Amino acid sequence: MPPLLQRKGILLAGGKGTRLHPLTLNTSKHLLPVGDRLMIHYPLATLIAAGIREILLISTPQHLPAFEQLLGDGGPLGAHLHYAAQPRPEGIAQAFAIAAQAGFLSDSEASVLALGDNLFHGGPELADTLANAAARADGATIFAHPVPNPSDYAVVEFSPEGHPLSLEEKPASPKSSYAVPGLYFYDHRARALAATLKPSARGELEITDLNRRYLALGDLHVEKLPAGTTWRDLGTHANIHELHLWNSARQS
Ligand code: TTP
Repeated sequence: MPPLLQRKGILLAGGKGTRLHPLTLNTSKHLLPVGDRLMIHYPLATLIAAGIREILLISTPQHLPAFEQLLGDGGPLGAHLHYAAQPRPEGIAQAFAIAAQAGFLSDSEASVLALGDNLFHGGPELADTLANAAARADGATIFAHPVPNPSDYAVVEFSPEGHPLSLEEKPASPKSSYAVPGLYFYDHRARALAATLKPSARGELEITDLNRRYLALGDLHVEKLPAGTTWRDLGTHANIHELHLWNSARQS
């Protein structure tokens, strides 16, 4: 049997949370209640379900203590949690520099980066899709899911054969309806490739630029989430409200 890939998880829960004002003026959006849990519990559960045990939670210096108080060492969840601060919200891809600096991720280790405001819900097909991505040793694996408002997300364009052709961050004229959810699996090269990124026009180290690096190398796998998967970015009032409705409908 091949050795099990020890993939490290990075859970990003900093940022500004401006779209959720005033709820986020004195707390992190990831600590807001969503259904019967706090927002952060959803991506954490996704990582744990994908078999990830060592997880670095990154948040702002202001909010990090609240996460430590809430989640502790992760033991009761079946994980081992570590913590690091992102001094300023300088982009999602900065997670790799922070993880390296914290001594959490070496340049020979594979990783998975999860955004703290993304929820995935699905059946065994989704679990298989995530497990396969976690087990793939080479390249990067990201996902694609059709949405009515692709301009709000990174958008992936496919060839007729289903291969990824391009990735664009929040395009005004999206080339497909497939958005890229906030869950990204990388081989050991992510740390070094992320270190070559330059801030975008909005001043952030963009995760889409890292994914473009893998695309240019021919090492980007883009998998469509199985039909029946629910994926939500919980970064807006409207999306949280809609999730509450979806939850109630599911439970009734
Ligand atoms: P976003 O929702 O794009 O940004 P935000 O959280 O600052 O919110 P808003 O646009 O409403 O001001 O971030 C996606 C996820 O990534 C979210 O969970 C926060 C996290 N994040 C960081 O932790 N650090 C960062 O530098 C950025 C840009 C995002």
